[in-house]
Amino acid sequence: MGTLLVTGGAGFIGSNFVHHVLEHTDHTVIVLDKLTYAGNAASLAGLPEDRVRLVEGDIADAALVDELFGQVDAVVHYAAESHNDNSLHDPRPFLDTNIIGTYTLLEAARKHDKRFHHISTDEVYGDLELDDPARFTEDTPYNPSSPYSSTKAGSDLLVRAWVRSFGVKATISNCSNNYGPYQHVEKFIPRQITNVLRGIRPKLYGKGENVRDWIHADDHSSAVLTILDKGVIGETYLIGADGEKDNKSVVELILALSGQPTDAYDHVTDRAGHDMRYAIDSTKLRTELGWTPRYQDFEAGLKATIDWYRENETWWAPAKDGVEAFYASKGQ
Ligand code: NAD
Ligand code: DAU
Repeated sequence: MGTLLVTGGAGFIGSNFVHHVLEHTDHTVIVLDKLTYAGNAASLAGLPEDRVRLVEGDIADAALVDELFGQVDAVVHYAAESHNDNSLHDPRPFLDTNIIGTYTLLEAARKHDKRFHHISTDEVYGDLELDDPARFTEDTPYNPSSPYSSTKAGSDLLVRAWVRSFGVKATISNCSNNYGPYQHVEKFIPRQITNVLRGIRPKLYGKGENVRDWIHADDHSSAVLTILDKGVIGETYLIGADGEKDNKSVVELILALSGQPTDAYDHVTDRAGHDMRYAIDSTKLRTELGWTPRYQDFEAGLKATIDWYRENETWWAPAKDGVEAFYASKGQ
């Protein structure tokens, strides 16, 4: 039993991990979160106060980070600016948080000699062609496309350098696209679900042929806990659940599960530099650390996610109009 510092623990995946840790371990958790537009304390509501403490602050605040590192046994670093479309509009916060913020945490991990796990993305590897049978592995060369993914790639390289140069006890995981409850309505799946719930037609970028490799956020959390327990220091692990789907099929499934005609969506302006396909080979994590995903049925997971958004409008409604106004200003 120990105390974990979870950065970004009021965001989509970070809050899922906090719930997961409380349910499956005896650890206590300190969440460090800036509560940007993407952070929401309500995502941690109902958790026992004697096991979870939320500290509102910036991972780039070295004094605060130093103080918190002195209080914990290990650190799991989720905090990031996470949305590609925002990074095309205003890259600066991505550099501040993803690069300088990660650097600040690594310096504290070095000083306090704390176990550090860095959460990253498959987007650092760039994209694959639709007709390419290949999937990303831990040996795929870095080739990020967007300001978001290039800052995540930069943060991964900082972690690797701090392991090699300073002996920081770090691991890295790169995961594919997550879905599930508590995801911000700016992202693809919650945007389309909440559009349908609001009577707005779903919006598909370009032709909708782009492929993403979907994994339920609960499976991401179980994988991270596995790596924290059993991962080898200095190693990278890819996390994925064999969930490749093209965007058009996902929109059609959301419409079908919502009782709507499957062609009731609009094609809108494509994303600049839009990555075509992501696909993860998670053999290393499965064979070396014994992890397996629990959600094998995407349709069932998506249906449960639609039900969650239908039943939790108070969680997402405050952000919805602003997000749609932003997209409308870009023809999306
Ligand atoms: P999110 O945008 O939902 O949450 C990010 C959280 O970080 C928010 O709570 C926000 O308030 C906080 N934050 C932002 N800047 C901060 C700062 N400077 N200091 C402290 N807190 C700050 O993001 P998410 O989708 O939950 O992603 C979490 C992590 O997982 C990111 O590192 C992301 O790159 C990675 N990831 C996401 C996915 C995905 O599909 N969403 C897949 C793979 C990896
Ligand atoms: O692969 C992991 C990454 O997955 C994470 O690192 C990112 O933090 C996370 O946001 C996600 O990135 P994507 O850019 O793949 O996710 P997004 O939800 O923004 O879009 C998914 C796909 O859907 C992508 O091909 C763009 C498309 N799209 C998106 C929106 C918002 C649409 O067609 N319509 C939309 O309205």
